[in-house]
Order: sequence, then C-alpha cells, then structure tokens
Amino acid sequence: MTAPDAAAFRRAAGRFPTGIVVVGTSLAGTGHAMTVSAFTSVSLDPLLVLFCAEKVARFHDAVLKAGIWSVSVLDEESEKTARWLATRGRPLDGQLDLIAHHPGPVTGAPVLDAALASLECRTTAVHDGGDHSIVVGAVVGVGGPQDGGAQDVGPQDVGAQDVGAQDVGAQDGGAQDVGAQDVGPLIYFSGGYRRLAAD
Ligand SMILES: Cc1cc2nc3c(=O)[nH]c(=O)nc-3n(C[C@H](O)[C@H](O)[C@H](O)COP(=O)(O)O)c2cc1C
Repeated sequence: MTAPDAAAFRRAAGRFPTGIVVVGTSLAGTGHAMTVSAFTSVSLDPLLVLFCAEKVARFHDAVLKAGIWSVSVLDEESEKTARWLATRGRPLDGQLDLIAHHPGPVTGAPVLDAALASLECRTTAVHDGGDHSIVVGAVVGVGGPQDGGAQDVGPQDVGAQDVGAQDVGAQDGGAQDVGAQDVGPLIYFSGGYRRLAAD
C-alpha cells in the first residue's frame, strides 16, 4: 500500500471503469454542459440519481442556480463531444452549436441527440463532497433512442420527440442511425477513452 497522496488516489480511482455522461442545464435560455464520469443511479423509490460537480467548474454554479439538469449517456462515437465538453475555458456561448441536441421536453435542459439514453432531473439535495458538490436529483423524464425521446415520468403525458442520433461531427456529415443495439457506450478507464470489445 502506498500513502494516499492525490496522485496515487487518482491512479487507483482511475482503475475503476466508468461510462461517460454529459450533464446539461439551461440558465436564462442558455445551454451549458460538461463531461462527467462521477454519475450514478441512487434510488428507485423515489427515482434519484446523483453526479459530482467540481466546485470550481463554471457548470457547478450554473446547475445549482438552475435546479434542473439532463444526463446524456455517451455512445462510443462521441469521444469528440466528451473531449470538447471537458475542455476548461471553452467559450460558454455556443459551446453546443456543433453538437446535435434538443431541449428536454420536461425541463428544457439540453439533451444530446446521440445519447444512448437520457434523463431529466430536478435537484433535490446538494451535499458537500470536499472540492466537489454531490448533486442529487429526482428523475422527471427518461429517454432513449429506442423510444424516440424523453418521456415525462410525472402524471402528465409529454409527447415524445423524434431524436435521430448525430455525432458531433454532424457539421461535416448527416445524421446517422445509432440505435442502442448497434453502438456501445463510451468508457473511461485509466485516464483514457475506451470501447467495449466485441463479443
Ligand atoms: C473523462 C472525464 C470525466 C470528468 N468527470 C467529471 C465529473 O464527474 N465531475 C466534474 O465536476 N468534472 C468532471 N470532469 C471535468 C469537467 O468536464 C471539466 O472541468 C469541464 O471543463 C467543466 O466545465 P466548465 O468549465 O464549463 O465548468 C471530467 C473530465 C473528463 C475528461
């Protein structure tokens, strides 16, 4: 065992493979999003999920102020999206312009068209987590390519949208069909983006 300094901790924690999500929010009509690996589902009754937001991230204050957010699960073709939305200091204005997305039907938070699945959430609690905040949210909408978009999980029925999947490279190509059965998730492991090996 090594003494638990930050570098050793990062190396060890990085050996835990995760998926990658983009968490999005909308504040005064402007979409803001960031790449997140610290996401997990929490509870089925009620439906709760959480993600950890670094306190110094610009997204941290935006999402706490907005109180609503989306979660888009990235597919293996969305590495460029993940890299871009993890770039510190990128211009906030227009940061989603080259990424196909739509407002979540329940919260208006930006949902990526290429998401393998998506959630819409309302913040229910924010816990202190050292240099991060642990943001817990009630799931108020669920979507995936199979059902054509997010659906409200509340009492009222919200119409599904057609959300054809597109890669961030959509500016130089058209929409692609990336049904969940064809495309796997983007994985993060040991400091690099990975893909699941074919069976
Ligand atoms: C693979 C990967 C996973 C990340 N996971 C998180 C995370 O879980 N929470 C977080 O606050 N930042 C995470 N980041 C860092 C943010 O994506 C990055 O700081 C981003 O630029 C913050 O957006 P902002 O500058 O608009 O606030 C991650 C970065 C990468 C590359």
